[in-house]
Amino acid sequence: TINNVEIIDIPKVHDERGFLAVVEKDVIPFGIERVYYLYDVPTESSRGGHAHIEQQSVIIALSGSFEVIVDDGNSKKYIMLNKPNQGLFIPTHIWREIENFSSGAVCLVLASTTYNEGEYIRDYTEFKAQLLG
Ligand code: TYD
Repeated sequence: TINNVEIIDIPKVHDERGFLAVVEKDVIPFGIERVYYLYDVPTESSRGGHAHIEQQSVIIALSGSFEVIVDDGNSKKYIMLNKPNQGLFIPTHIWREIENFSSGAVCLVLASTTYNEGEYIRDYTEFKAQLLG
């Protein structure tokens, strides 16, 4: 459920030269199989619009900001991501949309699976139906 969506704090090291954030494997609740990122996203774009049967994700606003809407079929949550040392953990079977990208925003996704279109649920009605099923 939506209660399993959570912010993960990514450890960082700071000195006068700036910040260094480290994603070590024990910080992420799954083994990372793939990393992808969205960039040069127009402000009016809506990304996502799907749920996953297998893929778990951690989404990080590496630069800039955007809003993530998560939905478990019963309730929705809006989460603004704007800190490079925070990740949003999204388990399977959660509908997600990503909107309101700031200029220069980079959305990094750590994924538990390699890309497989077959495990996407891209139809909201089907998403709702699967929850009942
Ligand atoms: P899409 O799932 O629509 O992106 P979003 O995360 O905004 O929902 O993916 C856009 C296109 O990129 C689509 O044709 C599938 C392709 N794609 C890959 O080839 N590999 C990947 O790892 C991902 C995430 C997408």
